[in-house]
Formats: sequence, C-alpha cells, structure tokens
Amino acid sequence: MLKVGLIGCGFMGGMHSACYKAIDGVEVVAVADVRLEKAQEIARVHNAEIYATGMELIENANVDIIDICLPTYLHTEHAVAAMKKVKNVFIEKPVCLNEAEGELLLKTQKETGANVQIGQVIRFWDEYVWLKEVFDKKEYGEVLSAAFCRLSSRPTWAWDNWLHTADKSGSMALDLHVHDVDFMRYMLGEPDGLTSTAVRNADGVIEQIFTTYTYGGKAVSVEGCWDYPADFPFTAGFRVKFEKATVVLDAGGLAVYFVDGGSFKPEIKPAFEADNDIGGNLSSLGGYYNELKYFVDNIAEGKALEVAPLCEGVKSVNLILKEIAFVGGAQKK
Ligand SMILES: NC(=O)c1ccc[n+]([C@@H]2O[C@H](COP(=O)([O-])OP(=O)(O)OC[C@H]3O[C@@H](n4cnc5c(N)ncnc54)[C@H](O)[C@@H]3O)[C@@H](O)[C@H]2O)c1
Repeated sequence: MLKVGLIGCGFMGGMHSACYKAIDGVEVVAVADVRLEKAQEIARVHNAEIYATGMELIENANVDIIDICLPTYLHTEHAVAAMKKVKNVFIEKPVCLNEAEGELLLKTQKETGANVQIGQVIRFWDEYVWLKEVFDKKEYGEVLSAAFCRLSSRPTWAWDNWLHTADKSGSMALDLHVHDVDFMRYMLGEPDGLTSTAVRNADGVIEQIFTTYTYGGKAVSVEGCWDYPADFPFTAGFRVKFEKATVVLDAGGLAVYFVDGGSFKPEIKPAFEADNDIGGNLSSLGGYYNELKYFVDNIAEGKALEVAPLCEGVKSVNLILKEIAFVGGAQKK
C-alpha cells in the first residue's frame, strides 16, 4: 500500500482525495492545510494525521508520495523540499510561475532522481486521449488546422484570492489556458510562432486570451477565459480539421464529420464514473482519476512516468510565458 501525504486541502486537494479513495493500492495517511477545518474535512475521510503546514508534513510524515495541491506560487519551494525527502512527487498544474522556478525544479529532480508527475490532466481526459490516438494513428490523415477552447464563469473558491492575484497564479493565461496549450504541445509538438491578444479586467489582469500558434503553414487557435457570467456553463472542447474528417468536442459530445460525407459520434466509456460534491466547475472525477491511477500504478510497478513528466509541465509553462510576454505581462497597470 503506497502512503500519500496530501498538501493543500482546497478545491484540488478535495478532488485528489476523492480519487485516492477510489484507487486501489494507495491511501492518504497525512494531510496539511493552513486552514485546520479544510485539513480536518479530508483527514476524516481517510483517518489521516494532520499537519499545520505543507513544510511540516514534508519534514515529518512517513509517506511514499507527496501530492502538492497548493496555490501555484507555493509549488516550487514545496516541490524542491518534497523531492529531497521522498522519491515520488505529484505537483498540480501549472507546475510553476516562471523560468527560474522551472530550472530549479529540473535541477533538483536531476540531483534527487525523484519521479515527478504534473497535473496536466487533459493528457488523461478520455475525449482528448481519443483525439491523441486518432492523431497518432493518422486515422483521418494529417492535421490541417485546430482550435481548442476552455471557458468558464469566474472561479470564486480560491483561498486568500490567490487565483486572481497575478503574481501568485500567473493569471487566467497560466492557470486555465495552460491545459489546452499543454495538450496542443503533447499532440503537435513545439509551434514555430505565436500571436496573442488578451482581454484584461479593470486592474489590468488577463481574464481572456486568444492565441494563434503556427506550425509551418498550419494554424492552431487556443482560447481561454474565466470571467463569463456565473450561470455560463463550463465549456471546453476542440475542433480539429484532418485531411479526411473534422473531429469536434463540444456540448453535444464527440463527433466525426467525414470530408466525403457522413458523420458519427464515437462512444467513450469513462474508466471510472462517480460524481463528487466538491464544487468548482467540475462534475465528475474524469481525467483526475485517470491521471492519479496512472501515477500510482506506475510508481507501484516501478515504471517511468512518461505521459505528464516534470519536463513537459515546465515546457508548457515556458510557452505560456511567451504568450504573456507577447501581450505585455499578466498584469498591465
Ligand atoms: N488540474 C486542474 O484542473 C486544476 C483545477 C483547479 C486548480 N488546479 C491547481 O491546483 C492548485 C491548487 O488550486 P485550488 O483551486 O485547489 O486552490 P485552493 O485555494 O482551493 O486550495 C489551496 C489550499 O492550500 C492551502 N494552503 C495555503 N498555504 C498552505 C501551506 N503553506 N501549507 C498547507 N496548505 C496551504 C489553502 O488553505 C487552501 O486550502 C493550483 O496550482 C491550481 O492551479 C488545477
């Protein structure tokens, strides 16, 4: 049985807690949160011990895995300490805020040999896993163009308003939009150019971004926004134009439209179906279950964590930083 220390018992900590509960061969034995009541909520579920801070857990808990669900600006210092203490570390996305942090994380991983997975969960989301498979198999030929989007109402749950503080979250551009940019890189590799336009709030913080990436003569558009009205439904999807068909994920689900006529809706059975009641803009364990099951199983079997390793998380952050530089910063006064 692998023993997990879970740091940060907010929105994502609750999600990871529900996933670990559903995965065999792993148990949460220690939790940490500066808000005692949040730590208690999750500790009760697992009968886990409680630490007042992440650093105290890293120093003292007897665990095989440390899972970091802290606000992004706290990832690096905790991840560096965690890698020095245990062999297996999971860090939520975006892995870090800037290039210097990314370099320190990679250097520490090299020195310690730690296994590190980043929460780039779209790499594990069923419909996107399907898309990557049809792309890899060239089922519909080459990609001619693609569009990805992720749009939500304003996230209101964050502790201490860290999510809407640009130097703590990197803004919507780094926090939400990184999901699609990371997936684009996973599927298509590194782009050769980008242009970006940002929409900002009254404080000058990015709330929406429209980016066009180029791959030779091909274009990929990626849009992110998190300040639609409260009742706006969470919307994430793609539209990929291959030579022989266009594949779409939207509110109607997955669909394939053939160039020569006709269409069908691929059926995908989730690996694990269960609702959770932790709030936020998510309604099932979805890819979170898949990514943590992969993480736990591969650690148990001594296999490399190849799907979303640390170096990939860092590359995706660095690419978003180029978008942010293009538009003049996460916050423009
Ligand atoms: N993969 C996804 O889809 C997804 C979705 C949401 C958030 N996230 C990421 O997960 C991370 C956490 O986000 P969240 O939404 O859960 O934030 P949150 O504000 O809900 O939770 C963060 C928690 O950390 C606690 N905390 C703060 N400092 C601490 C410390 N020193 N020691 C212990 N606990 C401390 C806070 O009390 C809070 O409970 C962020 O990096 C975010 O970008 C990922």
